[in-house]
Amino acid sequence: MADLTTEFVGIKSPNPFWLASAPPTDKEYNVRRAFEAGWGGVVWKTLGEAGPPVVNVNGPRYGAIWGADRRLLGLNNIELITDRPLEVNLREIKAVKRDYPDRAIVVSLMVPCEEQAWKAILPLVEETGADGVELNFGCPHGMSERGMGSAVGQVPEYIEMVTRWVKQNTRMPCIVKLTPNITDIKQPALAAMRGGADAVSLINTINSITSVDLDLFAPEPTIDGKGAHGGYCGPAVKPIALNMVAEIARTPEMARLPISGIGGVTTWKDAAEFMALGAGNVQVCTAAMTYGFKIVQEMISGLSDYMDKKDMVATSELIGKAVPNLSDWQHLNLNYIAKAKINQDLCISCGRCFAACEDTSHQAIAMSADRTFTVKDDECVACNLCVNVCPVDDCITMEQMAAGAVDPRTGRTVLPDYANWTTHPNNPAAAKAAV
Ligand SMILES: Cc1cc2nc3c(=O)[nH]c(=O)nc-3n(C[C@H](O)[C@H](O)[C@H](O)COP(=O)(O)O)c2cc1C
Repeated sequence: MADLTTEFVGIKSPNPFWLASAPPTDKEYNVRRAFEAGWGGVVWKTLGEAGPPVVNVNGPRYGAIWGADRRLLGLNNIELITDRPLEVNLREIKAVKRDYPDRAIVVSLMVPCEEQAWKAILPLVEETGADGVELNFGCPHGMSERGMGSAVGQVPEYIEMVTRWVKQNTRMPCIVKLTPNITDIKQPALAAMRGGADAVSLINTINSITSVDLDLFAPEPTIDGKGAHGGYCGPAVKPIALNMVAEIARTPEMARLPISGIGGVTTWKDAAEFMALGAGNVQVCTAAMTYGFKIVQEMISGLSDYMDKKDMVATSELIGKAVPNLSDWQHLNLNYIAKAKINQDLCISCGRCFAACEDTSHQAIAMSADRTFTVKDDECVACNLCVNVCPVDDCITMEQMAAGAVDPRTGRTVLPDYANWTTHPNNPAAAKAAV
């Protein structure tokens, strides 16, 4: 059986599944139930002090995007950091940590951008026995207008400065949580590293408006006729989060910087993908809010089965395994040629592949009078649109052409090996030689 235990910045947990700082980790009642369900760790809902009092809206705080089956795909929120008293949270953290010493408890913090404020709160957290702190430089609404959250996370110099204050004032490991609301995620990550961060976690939520009430003419969620932008999360943000995690993981200066991957993790497979792209563990919020704490049991058994099938005994064998295969476009092998194939036994003759290809792509699918759909190899560029619009799993696949075969579209012979591709004009070395 694969061993799922992880050690992240020196913090041990029985599995790589942590709950992210959010409503699921807002109080002792939740966190105890989460640990009973099997979560390996939590990042406690962000605590703050020394700023103006935190008062949440008393109207809808969430907006959403759904798929056709009403499955929640994206969640938008306008919630602030915890509105519970600091001393209550600290007391509860201490009690839970005492009772679950094998689980990770990291405390998320957000205080004003003054060294004194950080100096004051850190010893209070240390005293609870918590395993570490996560600096919330990410929340994009409410707190950012007060000069905190993403207002710090969007300025690398501030990230570096605050991280340094924290490292100078605590012995606890420090994880810096990054905002995705920035052009180049490498810059805040590098700033965190310069400030001495032990790790980065990402992503926090993405600035968003999910919908507009067309009677009230106001963004939703609407509070007394007005709406504000919120933070977007859930399955819809996973591709953005994966890319940002990978960007950091493949930057040589940050090759050793641990990453906690966050954003849309709903299944074991999502988690495995984050880990393969360099995350040492994952954090989950929306999936727990949608399906409840027991979803972690599916994640644990799924990851464990997958690792067994791959003969991986420890999570360290999975972490970063896909990073070397992440390339820039110019290094992709243009000698690789595939063609779409339609499995006639699975095809339901809906015609979606035909409509998409005929109207918007390469006119590479033929439709017969009896609605049989076939691929025209001499037009197909293997773009994959037909695969993506087909409603039947595995009905359309991309088949690689063998070496020596002639592509009927271009007349080019598929070369036998990748090395020959270096003569292709897209290869920078070949382009240089041509000059
Ligand atoms: C209602 C809500 C409240 C949140 N509050 C916090 C918070 O207090 N601190 C924080 O760092 N992130 C907060 N987040 C962001 C999550 O921790 C997480 O980064 C984000 O939701 C992406 O993960 P997910 O796609 O699994 O939800 C909150 C998210 C939601 C939905």
